Amino acid sequence: MVHKLSALFAELHGSSPAIYRAPGRVNLIGEHTDYNDGFVMPVALDLYTYVAVSPRADRRLRVYSENLREMCDLDLDLIRPGRSGHWSDYVRGVAGVLESSGYRLRGADLAIMSEVPLGSGLSSSAALEVSTAWALLSNSQLGIDRTTVAHMCQKAEHLYAETMCGIMDQFISCHGRAGHALMLDCRSLEFQLLPVPSQLRLMVCNTMVKHEHASGGYNTRRRECEEGLHGLAQVLPGIRALRDVTRDELEKHRDCLSPVIYKRVRHVVTENDRVKEAASALETGDIAKLGKLMADSHQSLRDDYEVSTSELDLMVELANGQEGVYGARMTGGGFGGCTINLVDAAHAEEVQQRLQRNYEAKTGLKPTILICEASDGAGAVGEDPRETDAKGRSE
Ligand code: GLA
Repeated sequence: MVHKLSALFAELHGSSPAIYRAPGRVNLIGEHTDYNDGFVMPVALDLYTYVAVSPRADRRLRVYSENLREMCDLDLDLIRPGRSGHWSDYVRGVAGVLESSGYRLRGADLAIMSEVPLGSGLSSSAALEVSTAWALLSNSQLGIDRTTVAHMCQKAEHLYAETMCGIMDQFISCHGRAGHALMLDCRSLEFQLLPVPSQLRLMVCNTMVKHEHASGGYNTRRRECEEGLHGLAQVLPGIRALRDVTRDELEKHRDCLSPVIYKRVRHVVTENDRVKEAASALETGDIAKLGKLMADSHQSLRDDYEVSTSELDLMVELANGQEGVYGARMTGGGFGGCTINLVDAAHAEEVQQRLQRNYEAKTGLKPTILICEASDGAGAVGEDPRETDAKGRSE
């Protein structure tokens, strides 16, 4: 991938680039909790977006996407917030947010190549944002810590893609660690790296279906959570986010909420508890417990939060009950995309093949099923990201 990108860059721009990368992610548990100040447990995947960069003397960004085979030209002095729906919104957004936050960028030639399947719920957009941020900052010899990069990229998504995402995807793309899941408190941003037991494999199953209303549905769920918070704050004045509500409090005050909003809040409240239990289960090596929590999470996303689809439900059902599968659930925002299975290494290939066959037989769709590893977060290619931040120097 890196050689191919270097060669492509030389052909396009006639110079040799520096290359940066940022990973996609899969979330083990903790869905739709990040924007409620709650808990999440994502893993960075060994699927990266690579950005090759070299400086220009002017204030232009000339950006080529190899995946989409398209070149686009941006002027750093003319970038304004707003969505166009084009892939370059993410590049434009990152550059725009960095500039408006006081980071003066140099012009650059860029070429992008991604292994993260686009639009499949593995956070291809965060991988693109974070790798672009790394490339633009390094190209301008500017330094920012990893958490600030994550915040800038989240803001780019809000202002330029107009998806009101939480911090999870950008945070894990910056802070991921090989062999580990990351349990994040989305209020304090304190995190804990939890080793993924070596006999486990992360199986990511792409249903190959993405529903049109994905981003609209996501923003609607956010508003529903705000409505729930507003309703409960009348009787629980101390709460700042749904993260502050307990199950008992919710049951006691359920009459303050409409039936739909009650279900949405119940998902968030129970999911936060599940993430905390999942962290203890990982710490004590209780994989069966972790698997059960994943199953409960899927059910809650399907029935209470209503962001699953018949294809995601089918993929989960087909995985459940197979030998070697500890747990299965939809992952990411929902309305299509992927499921995640926790599978014993000894059975991984067998499960993969069976799922491939059975899903295709039932739907006529050929799913992509990947066996992934927990990997490192963003950095310069060839450097240990544990020792560097976005300026490429030791923290
Ligand atoms: C998307 C968003 C995340 C998070 C998940 C749902 O991936 O980008 O911030 O809200 O959905 O957990």
